[in-house]
Amino acid sequence: MIPFDLSRWFRRRMLPLVIAAAGILLVAAPLSYHLAKRRELWQEARARAVHVGAALRGEIELRPLLWRYDMPKLTERLAAEGLLGVPRLVIHDADGVAVPLDVGPERPVRGLIWGRAEVVALGRHAATVWVGADAAPLWHGTAVLAAVFAVLAVSLGAVLYLLPMRAIGTAQRRIRVLLGQLALTLQEEDRRRIARDLHDGAGQALTAARLRLLALERRVGPGEEIADLARLLDEAIAELRRSAYALAPPALEELGLVRALERHCEAFATATGLQVQREIDPHLGRLPPTVETACYRIVQEALSNIVRHAGARRAWVRLARDSNWLRLSIHDDGRAPPAPAEGQGLPGIRERARLLGGTTSLTILPGQGLRLEVRLPVEPL
Ligand SMILES: Nc1ncnc2c1ncn2[C@@H]1O[C@H](COP(=O)(O)OP(=O)(O)OP(=O)(O)O)[C@@H](O)[C@H]1O
Ligand SMILES: [Mg+2]
Repeated sequence: MIPFDLSRWFRRRMLPLVIAAAGILLVAAPLSYHLAKRRELWQEARARAVHVGAALRGEIELRPLLWRYDMPKLTERLAAEGLLGVPRLVIHDADGVAVPLDVGPERPVRGLIWGRAEVVALGRHAATVWVGADAAPLWHGTAVLAAVFAVLAVSLGAVLYLLPMRAIGTAQRRIRVLLGQLALTLQEEDRRRIARDLHDGAGQALTAARLRLLALERRVGPGEEIADLARLLDEAIAELRRSAYALAPPALEELGLVRALERHCEAFATATGLQVQREIDPHLGRLPPTVETACYRIVQEALSNIVRHAGARRAWVRLARDSNWLRLSIHDDGRAPPAPAEGQGLPGIRERARLLGGTTSLTILPGQGLRLEVRLPVEPL
């Protein structure tokens, strides 16, 4: 009906975008926080390393050879000055040999953020100092932020995806119904045109022939052959009227669904001898023309099926509105085959209902005939 599935098309294009947007949101903020904070920690560690380096330079200049054996004193002093805070300090001498300290490992180890300073004393490179900052709070902060942003990203993704998807689903359903209504309107338009052509073409020709036969009868006097011809012409005219009427029932437009159905059921009962019980809500009012026509056609076909196939004595036609749905039910007290064959009538009923966004169901009531139920939306979906 619709050339392509809008929802699927949209899903295929939208999903990667939403995932990308949510992914960027999820990663960008925690990553920026992590990088900025890491840089801050590194700068702090570096500043401390520079301070420690300055203190160390003093020691080296005082005791150029013995300084490396007096480290506990230096670290104590630094700690007292608040320069170490946590004891993570590494000092290498000019040869890259670790100076033994009781406040840190022998070399910068992974898991800490190390700030470095070179110490120049007595005119040459004398030592390298590293001060380590604890990275655990940084990781903890990043993890908390990532968790918060994960929730945000999922919520935003859901909103970005579900809202348009819902709107598209509704639009697609409406388009389907509108296209269905259009198809039915065109179909009815065609039927009306055929009925008009029958009436104005073959109908007028037959009526003209009947009038000329009358004139002939007046001229030559009554006769058996003329009477036969007149009877045949009358039958043809009546048959043509019936066909034109069935193709485009004028009652529906003029009277509205409720009265047109009442009238059809009565006429049908009189013509076929089937008792048709009606429970048609008299307060239905006017409904969309496509819905009225569909209902009328469905009742026409269902009643005609009952007479042709069910061998029933009675039939029931019920029509009522239940909020936005029109419920039509037709059943009979005849014999229903266990699996009804498919002609054109039942598929036609299903197609009409489907085009209008409605549903049909056929139930075989054991020993009680067949029940056809149709639900049609009255308002556009
Ligand atoms: N009320 C009914 N009671 C018993 N059988 C039924 C009834 N309505 C339909 N059927 C069965 O379902 C079959 C299909 O019905 P359908 O209206 O599709 O085709 P059809 O009436 O045979 O032919 P047409 O195309 O002229 O309508 C019928 O042939 C009949 O066997
Ligand atoms: Mg039929």
